Amino acid sequence: MYTSSRVGSHYLARGKAAVDAELPAPFETIYRDEAATEAFLEAMWQLSFGVSGELVQLAELDDVRTLVDVGGASGAFAVAVLKRYPQLSVTVFDLPQVGPFLDRTREAGRFGDRLGFTPGDFFEDALPLADCLSFGYILSDWEDTTCVELLRMAYDACGSGGRVLLMERLFDEDGGPLATAAMNLSMHVETQGRHRTAAEYTALLKEAGFGDCTVHRSTWDKHLVMGRRS
Ligand SMILES: C[S@@+](CC[C@H](N)C(=O)[O-])C[C@H]1O[C@@H](n2cnc3c(N)ncnc32)[C@H](O)[C@@H]1O
Repeated sequence: MYTSSRVGSHYLARGKAAVDAELPAPFETIYRDEAATEAFLEAMWQLSFGVSGELVQLAELDDVRTLVDVGGASGAFAVAVLKRYPQLSVTVFDLPQVGPFLDRTREAGRFGDRLGFTPGDFFEDALPLADCLSFGYILSDWEDTTCVELLRMAYDACGSGGRVLLMERLFDEDGGPLATAAMNLSMHVETQGRHRTAAEYTALLKEAGFGDCTVHRSTWDKHLVMGRRS
């Protein structure tokens, strides 16, 4: 495997797509052993747990009974949903390596069968059916065409009247905030994605078939863009 500085020079010489095609898939490296998996999932928890309390409030999920958190990791958003909405059950859909860590979250919070885990790969497997599907820091890892494919899968999975939640950093129209611009540089190097404006996420939702799109800003760095299936 390349070291990161060698990857950088190869990117400049040959282009990112050609170099990435020869590397292991990013999550094969991130989940290479239990310690690395735990370190990544703990970092995601730290990044997402605080803001999730506000995001679940903004999402107004009182009419939702089932939610699938796609790429939900060890359950930071799922826990916030379960705590605020007693009528709701959440399934985290994520790569199989994540399962034992979600089990720990279920046991620590005594959520029982209100918190499920479906192992899968969203490039291979259909998404589980639910009233609502959420994607936190997922679309920013991928290019537009992949995002639309994932959103079409969510459209199929949520059925008529269902909805989708996108939770991401948002660029302002003037290119700020600075922290998002700085993060965006590493997104370009480390992933196939980028951060986007609310209008860009709305356009992706519409291309996948969703309508009635709304944007809800939190007081944190992660915000909510919501689409509905009519
Ligand atoms: C950047 S993390 C986001 C975690 C969490 N949603 C959050 O907002 O903190 C990306 C998540 O997507 C999952 N993931 C990556 N590729 C996947 C795939 N092909 N199928 C299912 N999940 C995947 C990872 O395991 C990880 O949990």
